[in-house]
Amino acid sequence: MSTPLLFQPVRFRSVTARNRIVVSPMCQYSANDGLGNDWHVQHLGARAAGGAGIVFTEATHVSAVGRITPHCLGLYNAEHQALLGRLAGVITQGGSVPGIQIAHAGRKASSQVPWQGGKPIPLSEGGWVPLAPSALPSVPGATDPRALSGGEIGDIIGQFAATAAMAREAGFKILEIHGAHGYLGHSFLSPVSNRRNDAYGGDADGRSRFLLEVVEAVRGEWPSELPLWVRLSCSDWVAGGLTIEDTVALARRLAATGQVDLIDCSSGGVSHEQTIPSHPGYQVPFAEAIRHRAGIATGAVGLITEPTHAAEIVANGRADVVLLARAILADPGWAWRAARALGVPADVPSQYLRAGL
Ligand SMILES: Cc1cc2nc3c(=O)[nH]c(=O)nc-3n(C[C@H](O)[C@H](O)[C@H](O)COP(=O)(O)O)c2cc1C
Repeated sequence: MSTPLLFQPVRFRSVTARNRIVVSPMCQYSANDGLGNDWHVQHLGARAAGGAGIVFTEATHVSAVGRITPHCLGLYNAEHQALLGRLAGVITQGGSVPGIQIAHAGRKASSQVPWQGGKPIPLSEGGWVPLAPSALPSVPGATDPRALSGGEIGDIIGQFAATAAMAREAGFKILEIHGAHGYLGHSFLSPVSNRRNDAYGGDADGRSRFLLEVVEAVRGEWPSELPLWVRLSCSDWVAGGLTIEDTVALARRLAATGQVDLIDCSSGGVSHEQTIPSHPGYQVPFAEAIRHRAGIATGAVGLITEPTHAAEIVANGRADVVLLARAILADPGWAWRAARALGVPADVPSQYLRAGL
């Protein structure tokens, strides 16, 4: 029996991963002033040793004001860069390709960490004014974000590029731009949150401009031999919001730049009125539609927990890779278990061989 495609190596530009299982970005809300610590080292190290092909850092922010919470990870100074270098190193030592997701929270910045409620932090309690395409709060009662001027938009694009340069020096091999979940990139894309009438708003062209300019600026710093991914919310799941048709059109534009290698197909996050019909693999049809209709590699994510399901998605050409978050949070060795279930030798580090995995 041949090795299931899920466990065959996959190549993006010069980078080859041992299999098509990806640890999805997962915020740990455990940094201070953007600076991570040994929590992040052990968290990512365990998941790399656990056999995934690619391991992503959590959303790593390009500025202090762009953090979701006061405890989100950042990469905007030399101290941050040293810690990120350790993270890239520990992932590599575990046998995985180190990936970094870079992000700006936009109007969803200044929030509590989830285990404190996840609500907006008022200015009176140490919160800050979020930045957004338009002065529309993400939830009723949140501090009104400040609508960005054209010059400030240029500054943020520059921050994305600067973070990409630091990520390159830190040793990451895949960079993903976070364009989903209602954060800044997505909030420019969606008509729900972008009411601008200048060059960065209006029709789909205008609303896509910010993301396309971020891609171009990041590519200026991110080497041509290394892959660049973009995470998108393929549906806003709300009337008047983005649909998969809008996202296929955007994916075609991203593919046409020749600079983006994969669309990581998520959804939702821009509207508190969204209704998400979640069930196993509920976002896989987005990955499949974009892969076939936009002619670009895709990642499928969202309630993929069973090895046979992950294998089916890749084998049937519905996506090029699968990303797992909660299942791999619960079980860092998910890839070993999946290998065993699919009859493939697990890539267990020599140090763990006596565990009989
Ligand atoms: C603890 C946690 C933190 C997350 N942080 C991020 C993040 O930093 N960036 C991101 O794009 N998605 C984030 N997500 C979403 C996941 O990457 C993933 O898209 C989502 O959980 C669906 O996948 P799953 O069903 O395998 O958990 C997070 C999810 C969890 C559970």
